[in-house]
Amino acid sequence: MADAPSAVALQGTLASIVGENHVISDRDRLASYERDWTGRWEGRAGLAVRPASTDQVAAVMAACGAAGVDVVVQGGNTGLVGGATPMDDEIVLDTTRLDEVGEPDPASRQVTVGAGVTLEEVQTRARRDGLDFAVDLPARGQATIGGMVATNAGGALALRYGTTRSSVAGVEAVLPDGSVLSRLSGLLKDNAGYDLPSLLVGSEGTLAVLTRIRLALTRRPRRRAVALIGVDDLANASTLVATFRDGLGDALEAADFVDRQGLELVCARLHVRDPLPRPCGIYVVVQVADDEDPTARLAAVESEDWADVVAVGEDTQRCEALWAYRESVSEAVAAYDVPHKFDLSVPLSEVAPFADAARLAIEALDAEAKTVIYGHLGDGNLHVNVLGFRPADDRPARALAPLVAEHGGSISAEHGIGRQKRELLGSTRSAAEIDAMRAIKQALDPRGMLGRDRVLPAAPDPRDEQDEVRREGVSR
Ligand code: MLT
Ligand code: ZN
Repeated sequence: MADAPSAVALQGTLASIVGENHVISDRDRLASYERDWTGRWEGRAGLAVRPASTDQVAAVMAACGAAGVDVVVQGGNTGLVGGATPMDDEIVLDTTRLDEVGEPDPASRQVTVGAGVTLEEVQTRARRDGLDFAVDLPARGQATIGGMVATNAGGALALRYGTTRSSVAGVEAVLPDGSVLSRLSGLLKDNAGYDLPSLLVGSEGTLAVLTRIRLALTRRPRRRAVALIGVDDLANASTLVATFRDGLGDALEAADFVDRQGLELVCARLHVRDPLPRPCGIYVVVQVADDEDPTARLAAVESEDWADVVAVGEDTQRCEALWAYRESVSEAVAAYDVPHKFDLSVPLSEVAPFADAARLAIEALDAEAKTVIYGHLGDGNLHVNVLGFRPADDRPARALAPLVAEHGGSISAEHGIGRQKRELLGSTRSAAEIDAMRAIKQALDPRGMLGRDRVLPAAPDPRDEQDEVRREGVSR
């Protein structure tokens, strides 16, 4: 019998493509690829390979395909659904050496960057020219643009500027067979054939390896202010955000929130005091950006109901300090326990009813469990983090998924499906949609070598289908 394909047998071939120093086989060095930062996802890599150009990525993919070895793409390893964590000796294709940052083009306000460039590097470069990248996330120092495009990352500014998809003007990518798709011209109007870049945005590393991205930048408003407002509950918070949207229009850049449990974990983790004079059920963080005085715009929509529980900052340091109460929740939760994380979205009118139902559902499973809810209120995007269950326990997921569907939502708002939610995909996507996704995957990656067992649910066993047909025949 032929030996099972082995990543280690490919070491020499890969070294001839990327250089010996960029093929990692040492188990200690592989450890950093094999676990996500929350400790929720762990696996085993055969090797890690660090190509530095699109041609090298193409050669790596062709070599892995010829050897029958599976590949998983990893950038900054900041994902939260296990999509980039290797399993079963997969080869990790580390994109961080694809780190070229081009010159922003002032006419089109676009820039081409390598997939391994971090969000913070793009922000820094764009801001030098008075421009900005319109997607922002707490993991900005590590998250790579390739990973953000692959997962169609959202973040706090999606309310104003949309998700990453809205900022992608083109991509270059390598298909599993090693062929290169390049659409980097950044043409605003280009309707020649299927829009392959759109297909790859949000494909979570299962259809192609992104190597370069043409990003659309925005003009950065000159001034911004942040307000942290305490209210009693999510119903009041939703009303508050609606008032801000009406009063501020496009000047409202973000409307995030954290609940009291999350805020307490943050205060303990950062050794900071409660931000407001009295404890509140929900803390809303709004950001207003404008060329003129943004605090005046905030004041224009102030209401007596919340005037006594508000903190406002305009200088960068104060804004960052106020944001820290919201942006540090993820880290504070992970420091407390290995979290079960559910990133989901519901219509705005369903935010408060859904959150109540979710808390009750978790309490019914375990009265001692802790549920922390935070997220991007203006988008109806809630991060429900459940603490107190073993990592492999799927009861919290099974309890929450049907609730999301009942409230008209999606089981993934911004983190993606990865390994975590593949068996739940059918709860908010139809069988016809999943069949179409399978057909696309089959066409671009017939052997299923890229991001195996992620995003799409396991294919139904044909024997079960035959049984079903037989049973239906009998009952007819
Ligand atoms: C956030 O909004 O803080 C991120 O999506 C990370 C998380 O959900 O924990
Ligand atoms: Zn988020």
